[in-house]
Amino acid sequence: MSNPDGSDRVCLVTGAARGNGLAIARALTDSGATVYLADIARDLPDVPYSLATPRDFDDAVESLQTIHNRVYGIRFDVRDAKAAARAVTQIETEQGRLDILVNNAGVLVLNPIGQVSEGEWNVQMDTIVKGAFYLCRAALPGMNRRGWGRIVNVSSIAGHRGLGTATVYTAAKHALIGLTRSLAMEVARQGITINAVCPGTVPTLLVEGTGRTLGLTMEETLTQFTQRHLTENPIAPEDVAAAVGWLASDAASRVNGASLFVDDGWHCH
Ligand SMILES: NC(=O)c1ccc[n+]([C@@H]2O[C@H](COP(=O)([O-])OP(=O)(O)OC[C@H]3O[C@@H](n4cnc5c(N)ncnc54)[C@H](O)[C@@H]3O)[C@@H](O)[C@H]2O)c1
Repeated sequence: MSNPDGSDRVCLVTGAARGNGLAIARALTDSGATVYLADIARDLPDVPYSLATPRDFDDAVESLQTIHNRVYGIRFDVRDAKAAARAVTQIETEQGRLDILVNNAGVLVLNPIGQVSEGEWNVQMDTIVKGAFYLCRAALPGMNRRGWGRIVNVSSIAGHRGLGTATVYTAAKHALIGLTRSLAMEVARQGITINAVCPGTVPTLLVEGTGRTLGLTMEETLTQFTQRHLTENPIAPEDVAAAVGWLASDAASRVNGASLFVDDGWHCH
């Protein structure tokens, strides 16, 4: 059995070039852990807003390397099973372990159901659900062998509530909750926990880009998308990161298969 303390841990965070993923990677780096940032760092035809650029990705990695030098970038698409397996193998070869996996990469396409294309369905389901599946499948054997592991899936309030015209995203985020709960049952006795974080609306480029497709400014988008928050105080990526950091820590060792809402109380409605 090995139970590395915080500064010995090796982490992989997907969708880490910006937004919630970058804040999560920064929090883990701040804790002293070795951190691998992953991102596709290119646009996708079925996503109507810009994803991270290669420059964003390099800047993200370099900015965290100023905290300490055990920060690395691996650019890959989480929808690619072979690339996901290769990334885990690379980390295990270089570091001897992968202790913490954060499945954060996600995309959102709003469309009334009659207008949802096959490509829009696939890009959301494949990024959010299949991507998490591929990486869990690749990372779990090593975690099992070592008797310790943490997986945190970044779901959403949309993993527990319906969202108008976000049907595919909502289905994908619900599926991620199901994956989290069932996998927790499968691996709990190997010292592994799998939990979900469920944010409300966080002002990131995903939200800004999605609002723009509706012809809204960021301010208008936030007004519309935060109607069910209980206060006017914005949720920051750092709030999401703090929840992920806690679930990935020893303090949360008795928490498994859970959804931790970082939604300013949206789920109370
Ligand atoms: N912002 C919110 O309000 C909010 C709310 C709830 C949940 N979330 C979730 O938080 C996560 C991060 O979202 P964000 O708001 O920071 O968005 P973002 O668009 O700023 O960041 C997402 C990152 O994922 C990357 N990415 C997209 N597809 C990828 C793929 N196939 N492979 C690898 N990387 C890929 C993008 O390049 C980008 O850097 C997502 O899963 C999102 O669904 C966001």
